[in-house]
Amino acid sequence: MSPKNPIFCALDTTDEARAASLARGLKGAVGGVKVGMEFFNARGPQGFRVVAEAGLPVFLDLKLHDIPNTVAGGIRAVLPLKPAIVNVHAAGGLAMMRAAVDAAKEAGEARPLIVAVTMLTSLDQSDLAATGVTGTPADHVLRLAHLAAKAGLDGVVCSAHEIERLRAELGRDFKLIVPGIRPAGSDVADQKRIMTPSEALALGADVLVIGRPITGAADPREAADAITASLAA
Ligand code: C5P
Repeated sequence: MSPKNPIFCALDTTDEARAASLARGLKGAVGGVKVGMEFFNARGPQGFRVVAEAGLPVFLDLKLHDIPNTVAGGIRAVLPLKPAIVNVHAAGGLAMMRAAVDAAKEAGEARPLIVAVTMLTSLDQSDLAATGVTGTPADHVLRLAHLAAKAGLDGVVCSAHEIERLRAELGRDFKLIVPGIRPAGSDVADQKRIMTPSEALALGADVLVIGRPITGAADPREAADAITASLAA
């Protein structure tokens, strides 16, 4: 999947009508939308279908992390929804990631991309050390991304600051999905390690996950169009 427009808008809400109306309003202005555990835990498969009816590819951000058999079952259970992307935690290990991809392949050609979260951007080096992982966050991300590639995953979710190194080490076809994106001059909110959409794209991001700068705008479509225009500039 290589969306012409790399922007996936994060619909972080439990409100099905609002998510669906945002998705409809953004059709043609973004490459896809993302729903995560907030929306899916509240609205489930039916909520997903209502959002998907807008006709945009949907990234189902479930961050699965369990024993291989359970993760495979979790992936299999969402295949009928035809998500464009589903993710797991790379920390779940090689066998778990392989099981996730194998389960996705049961959907054939139309299978979702399976990507891995490497290290949550909310963690820093001391958090990592507290979980028993020595070394730098960058080294940890690299190690987990290589493990994801070895497992046959389609890519990883990473911070913009890791794009360059991951792209260099993992090649052009490995998808890099990047949240923490803020258009120049927009509200940073709780994101810490941010980058503008055009900088992230220039470094080699495939998908830019952008939420509040679009959903919080008075006119979300206009905000998305402005970001798209900034990419071409
Ligand atoms: O509103 P904002 O642009 O910050 O939304 C970013 C989206 O990307 C949210 O849905 C958030 O959960 C997700 N995300 C993130 N950082 C990660 C992984 C996912 O911000 N490391």
